[in-house]
Parts: sequence; C-alpha cells; structure tokens
Amino acid sequence: MVKYDVLIIGAGIAGLYAAMQLPKSKKVLVVCKDIPWECNTFYAQGGMVTALDESDIALHVHDTMEAGSYHNDKNAVEILSRTSLETTADIIAKGMQFDTNDKGKLLYTKEAAHSVERIIHAGGDATGRYMHYFMMVQNKHQLQRNTLVYDLLIENGRCYGVKATVNYEPTTIFADDVIIASGGIGSLYAYNTNSRTVSSDIHGICVEKGIELSDMEFMQFHPTVFVETPYARKLLLTEALRGEGAHIVDDEGRRFLFEYDERGELASRDIVSRGIFKHKRKTGQKAYLDFSMFEKKWFEQRFPNITRTFAALGYNFPHDKISISPAFHYSNGGIKCDTNGAIAGMQGLYVIGEAARTGVHGANRLASNSLLEGVVFAKRAVEHLLSKEQPSVKIPKFEKDCGNILHKENDKRYKQKLRQVMWDDIGIIRTTKGLHEAKNIIYDMKNKEIGRLLKLRLNTASAIVDAALARKESLGSHYIESE
Ligand code: SIN
Repeated sequence: MVKYDVLIIGAGIAGLYAAMQLPKSKKVLVVCKDIPWECNTFYAQGGMVTALDESDIALHVHDTMEAGSYHNDKNAVEILSRTSLETTADIIAKGMQFDTNDKGKLLYTKEAAHSVERIIHAGGDATGRYMHYFMMVQNKHQLQRNTLVYDLLIENGRCYGVKATVNYEPTTIFADDVIIASGGIGSLYAYNTNSRTVSSDIHGICVEKGIELSDMEFMQFHPTVFVETPYARKLLLTEALRGEGAHIVDDEGRRFLFEYDERGELASRDIVSRGIFKHKRKTGQKAYLDFSMFEKKWFEQRFPNITRTFAALGYNFPHDKISISPAFHYSNGGIKCDTNGAIAGMQGLYVIGEAARTGVHGANRLASNSLLEGVVFAKRAVEHLLSKEQPSVKIPKFEKDCGNILHKENDKRYKQKLRQVMWDDIGIIRTTKGLHEAKNIIYDMKNKEIGRLLKLRLNTASAIVDAALARKESLGSHYIESE
C-alpha cells in the first residue's frame, strides 16, 4: 500500500501554491481530474489583488467588506489583505513576471468596487494563465492527471485518503493529510464562465459525510459574459475592461446602469449583473460592452487575449461592441473551514481556494480577490499542517465499493435539466416559489436511477437551494424578488 504525506486534490492556484510550500522531503501527490490547465485559475483574466502597502490594508478590507455586504468574517479579510504583502513578494521573488511599465514598476489596474488601483496582472488579460504556468513550473512534487476523486475515506472524525479513478481505474489513495483545492461549482449552471472540470463533486461528498457547507446561497454572477457560443464555458470579458473605462450600453447606446447605482459600471458585480438582467427584462433590449473610446493599439496591448479570441469569432475590437449577459462565475460559499483551512471536528482534512468558505467573501466577492485567496490560505493551511504533530495512525479497513457506478444511462439528460433549473430558479433573481419548485425537481432527480457523480452534483444543488430558502431577505448576491 502506498501512502502519501500530503494529497492535494486540485491543480489550480490554491493547490499548486500549497504544493510549492511543501518541502521536497515530504511525499506529496497533487491530483487533477483532467489536464492540469483545465481549472478556473487558467481562465482568470483580470488579475490578482494585492494591498499596495501597509497603509492600503484598511481600505482593501473596507472595499472587500462593502462588496460582501458586511457578511464577511472581518478577521479573515484582515488576514487576506495583510498576508498579500508577503505572498505577492514571495511570488515575484520566485520569478513570476507581472506586467510592468518601461521603468520596471508594477502596473496596477482597477476593477469594480475597488477604491484604488491595486490589481496586478500578467500578459495583459491572461493573469491566471501566466500564474498557472509559473506555478506548474515551480511545483517540484508529483502531479497526476486524469484522477477523479469520488469519495473521501473518513472514519471517526479523521480523513485517511480518497477513492478515485485514475485513468478510469478505481484506486484508493491514502495520505496523512488531504488538502481539498478542487474549486467551485460552475458546471451546475447553464451559463457559466468556469472550466468544465469544476462540478462540485467534493462538495457533494462533504454533504454526504456531514461536513458543513456554508454561505451556499451566495453564488456570484459575472456581469459581462458573451454567452452566444455553443460551448459549456462561456467567454468572460474581464472587469478590468470597465476598470479601464469601457461602458455598458443598451440598443440605444444609453448607459442605463446609473438607474440602478450611482457608480454605474463600477458598482459591485452583483449590482451590475442585476441591473443588466432587469433592464433586459424591462425594455426587451440587449446589453452591450462598448470599447469604442479606446485607441486600437493600446487596446490590443492591454487586452491581447480578448482581442484575439473575439477576432476569431469575427469581432473587430475595440471598434465593435459586443452583446453581454451575466453568467455564473464564482461560489462565495463552500466547505466551511477556519482561517487555516482546517475543518471543525475533522483531522487530516483541509480546504483552500474557491472550494473553501473562509468567510473572506461574505455575500459577494470583491473582484480579483480570488487568486489572492488561493495563495494566502494555501500558505496558511500548509503552515498549519507542517506545525502539528503527526501521530502514527492505523488505517482502518475501508470496504471495496463495487456498487459505485459513476455514470448511468440518463445522467446526461438530467444534468442538462439540473443546469437549466439552477439558472432559471436559483440564479440572479430568485423567488420563493421558484426555489421550492427547484427543490422538488432536485429531490425527484435524486430518486432516479443515477450515477454517483450526478448524485454528488445534486447534493450540492440541494445545499444551494436549501441555503437560499433559509435566507428570507436579499443580501449581496442572494436576491429574492417578491411575487
Ligand atoms: C475578471 O477578470 O473580471 C474576473 C476577475 C474575478 O473573478 O475576480
């Protein structure tokens, strides 16, 4: 039997930065479901927040709390901001190249609801891709792809490892410590910006094991997404575009968002998403992102990937405007943990990154705080893990699970139905009636002949709808409309 010191589930920014913090003397395995770059980090465009210096911490904390409707855990937010000084310096010292001016000084940009420019970026609009590549190269531990975790080995409040398929073969992987860095829940929604691998399997396992999910009603929708493509992952148009001055207009060219918030395009993303949704519903008009104020050469340099991606679809940016819709983007809630990523009542199990609910985001995440959350809490979880005593424990006997069929015949059809229900009834604007209907549909699906992976998705969907029903008033990204 092979046993690892640490098993990390997920090879996005949180998983890879955790691996970077673990010494070579440890036997570490990082696993990912598919190819390593199929993760949300790879698709992150805008950048990573960093407090500018000591004096910016209070303002960054304020902006984060205000975007989060003050539902955040202030202590966690202070840790996030303060630690950013250290983690950003560490990443740069190790060789990550963020965009700089011709004098070598870091360039900072602004996104919605930030009081100042404090977001660093790389490759113009390819921050996630650059950081992911950098961390893949930095990681000195074993990374194993095509590893789909479908169960956690838990007994008497301790995690001993996971059950997974590796290249479709059922396998058991034992470890003294397991770090969950598996990302959010994007594939549950019909319209989403997430990697296709992000399907909430581990959240679903946690529900089954009685591990608490928290703040699951707070699902975040990104306001500026191009959804008119057939692919599951819809194309994000970074908030940095609006931070740099792009406008949102309707068919008549009117900047209608000022009717919803005096900050217009720079209100927090929950407000902008709802403004677009309501305006479309009220007027029957479309919403567009308009870049025509930008000079072509500057735009192509600042947003090279967006320019290229949309040129392939026939758009000539910045000249052409593009129709936009909100789409699911990020789970503010997740697997409940403390600020070390530790899960109450559970030994040997940590959670970091989007999968975690540390309390930093409150009811709505401030733009570009997510890459930062990934690194800060990965560092803390590893420090905690390395500092504790590691008593030698006897691994209990876990049953071989021949009954676990991962996929069944009709799963694909139910999965599509679930995605539509999530979008229609547990989306940007919710009603109590719609939530009850969704709850019943999810319950019915759970009782069908379905495979394990769909069951895990449905467990997470249930947690979202139950949390949404429990919160009677609107707050942040949870918005209830009276019928
Ligand atoms: C974006 O670039 O707009 C996304 C950044 C984020 O999700 O914080």
